[in-house]
Amino acid sequence: MELPNYKDVFKKDKIKTKKFELDPNYKLKYSGKKYFLKTYGCQMNEHDSENIKALLEEMGFTEVEEYKDADLVLLNTCSVRENAHNKAFGMLGRFKHLKEEKKDLVIGLCGCMAQEEGVIKEIKEKYKFVNFIFGTHNIADLPEILDRAINEGKQEIDVKTFSDEIIENIPVRRVSNFKAYVNIIYGCDKFCTYCIVPYTRGREHSRKKEDILREVEALASDGYKEVTLLGQNVNAYGHDLYNDYSFGELLEDVAKTGIPRVRFTTSHPWNFTDKMIDTIAKYPNIMPSIHLPLQSGSDKVLKSMGRRYTKESYLKLFDKMKSKITNCHISTDIIVGFPGETEEDFQETLDVVNHCNYDNAYTFIYSPRENTPAAKFKNQVDEKTKEERLQILNKLVNKYFLENNKKEEGQTLEVLVEGKNEKIDGYYGYSKEMKLVNFTGKNIKIGDLVNVKITKAKTWSLDGNAN
Ligand code: SAH
Ligand code: SF4
Ligand code: F3S
Repeated sequence: MELPNYKDVFKKDKIKTKKFELDPNYKLKYSGKKYFLKTYGCQMNEHDSENIKALLEEMGFTEVEEYKDADLVLLNTCSVRENAHNKAFGMLGRFKHLKEEKKDLVIGLCGCMAQEEGVIKEIKEKYKFVNFIFGTHNIADLPEILDRAINEGKQEIDVKTFSDEIIENIPVRRVSNFKAYVNIIYGCDKFCTYCIVPYTRGREHSRKKEDILREVEALASDGYKEVTLLGQNVNAYGHDLYNDYSFGELLEDVAKTGIPRVRFTTSHPWNFTDKMIDTIAKYPNIMPSIHLPLQSGSDKVLKSMGRRYTKESYLKLFDKMKSKITNCHISTDIIVGFPGETEEDFQETLDVVNHCNYDNAYTFIYSPRENTPAAKFKNQVDEKTKEERLQILNKLVNKYFLENNKKEEGQTLEVLVEGKNEKIDGYYGYSKEMKLVNFTGKNIKIGDLVNVKITKAKTWSLDGNAN
């Protein structure tokens, strides 16, 4: 049993790659038992859940949609903002009620919250009904931890803060059979002062390029249409493994596999190289849709956030991307109410939004996180001001979403069909530019790439017809 320990956060060591093998003793040991898994947070967590599902299913569990029907309930949690935290604790409360009726219910928690010292302390003291916890670095230990929790009857907590291993070949049960997430780099070394991710996900560890390319090639030959390369900061790919092979080269090799659509997230504006821009511009199967988090438009705030770029250098990069990449669409993340943010600072953020007129933006109120430097900054902004700024910002970004979407009216966009839209007796999917398109048409199959003529623009989606 290991508990999270922030002292180990800064440890770094050479990475070993190991291959996962399921201990045969666990294989189908729990056949007939049902599990419910709820996932919070980012794509990284969604992809981890695909591994977790496959592990549970190899142990014999089958998935159910309603937690009330399950013998095992598990939360894959997110720490990035307070509300993600609260949602997970709220769900634990519901599980507690269920356990009062169903004494044998097994309750587990994993993901980023498991990496927080404070969360583990609270669970040990107040949530004794939680049976087992594992962290983001030891997903592969799930079968063993769960088996122990079930058979030994005491709370099993096993969370590593430091890991020098990448485990390949963990089984995966992908949610989709036409689009897939592929991890390329784990962890984050940027330590932006507001962000908890470097503490919950550890140091930057790149997967070997051979392992990544093998995975993409297998997906392509299985008929997958789209891969999204995942990392907290994909630009950092390779620096821990290679001298002359970084994200630009990897992106090019992934594009060369011929898979129809390549996406990646997230790229930090700080080390977005010309090689990356040139590669995106060169390969038509790299989607012209880039997520470029701004966070703030004020140099003072950016400095205090530890973002390593200025308003000017961000805008220079933005303009370069727009001029070099045909049909380039850019989305962003923005935080309002960071400690010390004045009206003038906020105005600088609005200036950047006015320059960039983003195609999409995720806007957040600053949320102080355990053990991060910014949480201890003295000049916190009051809640009312934060709320007001968020509203002003949202109004502005929404205006640009609609304006940009209007430019798509009358155009034909290629859409990857994701599912049915019963309301319109049609379908929905995403265009290359990452626009959500609701459309009608005949002989459409989910997972196909179809051309859709756009008939109407809305703020967050487009309507169209495929015939
Ligand atoms: N690695 C990604 C970000 C992952 S977190 C990157 O650097 O772009 C996703 C987004 O959550 C961040 O871009 C940021 O806008 C937001 N975020 C992170 N910590 C936050 C906090 N403490 N309060 C509010 N928003 C936060
Ligand atoms: Fe967090 Fe910054 Fe790392 Fe993104 S780059 S995960 S915001 S510390
Ligand atoms: Fe949340 Fe962890 Fe992702 S904190 S945003 S689930 S890396």
